[in-house]
Amino acid sequence: MAATVIYGKDLARELRNSLSHTLERLKGKGIVPGLTVVLVGDDPASDSYVRGKEKACLELGMVSNTLRFPESMAQDGLLELISRLNLDDSVDGILVQVPLPKHMDTDLVLRTIDPAKDVDGFHPVSIGKLLLGQETFISCTPHGVVKILEKTGMPLAGLEVVVVGRSNIVGKPMAMLLMQAPHHCTVTVCHTRTLDLKAHTLRADIVIVAAGKPRMVTADMIRPGACVIDVGVNRVPDASKASGFALVGDIDYVPIAEKASFVTPVPGGVGPMTITMLMVNTVKAACLRRGLAVEN
Ligand code: GUN
Repeated sequence: MAATVIYGKDLARELRNSLSHTLERLKGKGIVPGLTVVLVGDDPASDSYVRGKEKACLELGMVSNTLRFPESMAQDGLLELISRLNLDDSVDGILVQVPLPKHMDTDLVLRTIDPAKDVDGFHPVSIGKLLLGQETFISCTPHGVVKILEKTGMPLAGLEVVVVGRSNIVGKPMAMLLMQAPHHCTVTVCHTRTLDLKAHTLRADIVIVAAGKPRMVTADMIRPGACVIDVGVNRVPDASKASGFALVGDIDYVPIAEKASFVTPVPGGVGPMTITMLMVNTVKAACLRRGLAVEN
């Protein structure tokens, strides 16, 4: 039986509608949440993500400010900029796009951001709170995946989840989120040194793939009826496209969609949810900084 395709963009629209009501109420109090994105270098994929974030902010009537710098920017200059943004009252959320140029210490840069403005959820304080099950900014992609899983209506408690990939941005926070309340899943994290990946994925009720390798998870690795979430976004050469490339995920989509219960496409699956959760976090930061209740 063919899988139900979960279009994150539909769910994102629902969440953005509800967020726009909150934004209206904030506007009535003279508050317009603002996100500042810092992009260093000219990586085309990063540029495209950043443009998506700007567009989402503007569509919701939020303030979007993108600061672009050349690859050669000195790390001290970036740290000084972040310190200024931390003190700037008009800035509710700060996002430094990663990957950063090789001469920069990403951990140092990310921990310079004020945790109260850490709408990416990448600061060690945010990650630590997530690990401890405390209220915090949750990183946007794993948070978006949880919203997608909730949308399936599957009771998640006790299910076997296999996360493929152990990045700080997706794999690790994904595992932390799903294993604890209110989700209570049994989580296995697989990675490049996992000896028999297929043995793990084949017994999973839910497979979440964030490995960064085009089509690496194939249909023979999936149990019939499993739910498969594809977090990967890979540019592969495609002469039939004007851009010269196509976007593909980390799963072999067509045969998996014939076998799974639920599947997410690339593009249009997890991606729009990531950006939506960033908007949710920015509104949350704006509320928390002013002592207001968080609605979304
Ligand atoms: N690079 C790829 N995804 C992300 C993200 O969600 N946040 C930041 N800051 N950089 C990214």
